[in-house]
Amino acid sequence: MSFEMRPLTPDDEGRVLQVVADLYRAHPDLVGFQWPPESLRAEFRSTEGWGIFDGGRLMSFILYRVTPVAWEISVVASHPDSWKRGLTRSLMGHLIVVKPADRELWLEVHDENTRAWRLYESLGFKRMGIRSNYYPNGGTAWLYTLR
Ligand SMILES: CC(C)(COP(=O)(O)OP(=O)(O)OC[C@H]1O[C@@H](n2cnc3c(N)ncnc32)[C@H](O)[C@@H]1OP(=O)(O)O)[C@@H](O)C(=O)NCCC(=O)NCCS
Repeated sequence: MSFEMRPLTPDDEGRVLQVVADLYRAHPDLVGFQWPPESLRAEFRSTEGWGIFDGGRLMSFILYRVTPVAWEISVVASHPDSWKRGLTRSLMGHLIVVKPADRELWLEVHDENTRAWRLYESLGFKRMGIRSNYYPNGGTAWLYTLR
């Protein structure tokens, strides 16, 4: 296996959509992760991104919006075949290293998405806020930042 970590390019759009389609097939019950293909496509086209590839196949990716004060992470997803192999941890760790020192990382996560918030907290993200009734099912979002 040969892993490559690199910025996403417009050519990766189909790969990003495929990862999320495979995620929904393998885990129809994902909590706090609602990215129908059209929303995801629009998000991909208006954000920056990084991914980890295994022999050319996208395994994990992050999309984020660049603002003057922060990189706002909007999508984090790992292919179901590669969960729990540390790929998203590496990718997120890389983003932490490459972001400019004067920008924070921001993200929000469903309070029941234990996999995700455990990962973020272990990387040093701090819970800075809470939004009740944020998700369509009435779920609560936690806001995290990392300086
Ligand atoms: C959340 C997600 C991106 C994690 O991706 P991953 O590639 O499996 O993550 P990693 O292998 O790098 O795991 C790193 C850490 O995540 C946490 N984690 C991963 N799977 C977990 C599980 N089943 N239960 C609890 N914690 C878990 C742990 O802290 C783990 O650290 P460890 O390996 O030292 O125990 C992946 O599960 C996913 O795509 N979920 C669906 C989409 C989603 O919810 N995205 C986040 C929205 S905010």
